[in-house]
Amino acid sequence: MNCQKHLFNLDPELTYLNCAYMSPLMKTVEQAGIDGVLRKQKPERVSGEDFFSETNELRKEYAKLVNCPDPNRIVVIPSVSYGFANVAKNLKLNPGDEIVVVGEQFPSNVYPWRRLVQDSGAKIVTVPGPKVTTGRGKRWNEQILETINSKTRLVATGNIHWADGTLFDMKAIRAKTHEVGAWMVIDGTQSIGAVPFDIDEIQPDALIAAGYKSLMGPYSIGLAYYGPALDDGVPVEENWINRFESENFANLVNYNDSYQPGALRYEVGEHSNFILVPMMLEAVLVLSSWGVKNVKEYCNNLVDVYVSQLKDTGYIIEELDYRASNLFGIRLGDGMSMDSIKARLQEANIFVSYRGDSIRVSPNVYNDAADMEKLVEVLVG
Ligand SMILES: Cc1ncc(COP(=O)(O)O)c(C=O)c1O
Repeated sequence: MNCQKHLFNLDPELTYLNCAYMSPLMKTVEQAGIDGVLRKQKPERVSGEDFFSETNELRKEYAKLVNCPDPNRIVVIPSVSYGFANVAKNLKLNPGDEIVVVGEQFPSNVYPWRRLVQDSGAKIVTVPGPKVTTGRGKRWNEQILETINSKTRLVATGNIHWADGTLFDMKAIRAKTHEVGAWMVIDGTQSIGAVPFDIDEIQPDALIAAGYKSLMGPYSIGLAYYGPALDDGVPVEENWINRFESENFANLVNYNDSYQPGALRYEVGEHSNFILVPMMLEAVLVLSSWGVKNVKEYCNNLVDVYVSQLKDTGYIIEELDYRASNLFGIRLGDGMSMDSIKARLQEANIFVSYRGDSIRVSPNVYNDAADMEKLVEVLVG
């Protein structure tokens, strides 16, 4: 695919390589939001059916994006922490049980488990990133697999590490969790839309993603997949719209103790958000039209030569087998100063993030070779 910069409103004076912080908005996504705001001028035109139909369309389109055969397993959530709260509420732990996470994982995929183990006498086992400069991703993956054992009840990771883009082998982890009877939940916030994910193949118990990064949607909406293990669970909130036959507004006060079937019980209250849902839907439709495989390839091609140049000048970057291209960490070689690099990047109007000991660079389809060249020019000096 070609560069899609023309679809966005990025400032030409700056170099934005920070999708992992927040993606820019496509013009069509922006318009969907404006239309959504204006819609409330005429509330008489919002039908009862509208409370369900747009979210249903979003779940169908997102299901296609992540190859989920049953769209009713996809629900709208306001945040990643909300998505994991539904999992935490339904995971029964005993003293001695273990939850496996990776080192320096995003906090929304850590705090729910910290609370859960506090209440149950179970413990969290963290697999830290190996302190090596070559073969780090491979070793990290091996250590995760070595850590999963008969005490493991849950493995909660990202499919790529949010700070440096290390790729975790979802298939191998899922196989090991199946062997020991543990749940596997994944934070896909930094990859869905930019790296192919196949729910049918991996069969996680949950895949949670915020919408405002690689999914290119607005803030405060995300999407969650919940698998069969959670079908009979209890959601974190008891909202009316998730009750069986809530479509019948005239009957709402004949309170119904049954939920909508399966995963639909986990959807956030007021999920029929008339501004955010159409924006998210438009973003997902555009991503589908590009094809996630093509977005990944675009990012790989975009960064490949520049990654080699940076490595040749002493920066430390993981091999492509174990890192993403839409998000990757650059660690400093001997004698380099992070403070000076930060100042130079700021001076050149280049937007990246700093996470842990990495410079986190996260390009996407609106970036081109000129953006990467500017970055390398400043880093190499
Ligand atoms: C990997 C990852 N997960 C989740 C989030 C956001 O979490 P929440 O939606 O709970 O604010 C971020 C934000 O940076 C993130 O990088």
